[in-house]
Amino acid sequence: MLFETGFLGTGAPLYLDVITLYFGILPFILAGSILFAIRKQYALHYRSQIAIFIITVVMVLLFEIGMRIDGGFMTYMEEGVMSMALFSIFLAVHIAVAVISVILWTIVLYTSFREYKAGVDMVEFARTHKRKSRLLFGGLTFTSVTGVLIYLILFVW
Ligand code: HEM
Repeated sequence: MLFETGFLGTGAPLYLDVITLYFGILPFILAGSILFAIRKQYALHYRSQIAIFIITVVMVLLFEIGMRIDGGFMTYMEEGVMSMALFSIFLAVHIAVAVISVILWTIVLYTSFREYKAGVDMVEFARTHKRKSRLLFGGLTFTSVTGVLIYLILFVW
């Protein structure tokens, strides 16, 4: 079922359609959660962050398991819009930023939640939290955009 042709009409398997769509909207979902913080709705902000993190981890697992069963990305790669060498570099940059972002996300989520619940000094918390989180938002958005581009390169262009 997951490996049957998906609903986007590109010929890609269903699981890749679902995951790509999710990563296409992830930056907007994250921005919505950040908007809660800007509006000082902190409980909504951290609860939505935890939920988004869990859903994203499930998506990444689905992707990793799907790819292993499916035989890897290179199964789909045909020299076309991009040479194999350039595509491999693009893929490596995407994977590197993705891995760093997910590690940073885990750390920021855990430490922020613990510090917030412990009632630390909010001025100091806000200063360091905003700095790390903006960087993290940038990394996650870059990962999402490059992920969608990889899908487009493999199945559309
Ligand atoms: C679950 C743990 C988290 C808690 C408890 C938490 C809590 C907070 C709080 C209290 C603020 C307001 C700081 C202030 O201006 O006084 C804030 C702001 C912010 N948070 Fe979080 N947060 C969490 C996770 C995250 C994560 C994982 C991200 C990144 C994706 C994030 C992104 C942001 C951003 C960008 C702001 C600044 C918004 C602005 O410009 O005013 N937060 N957070």
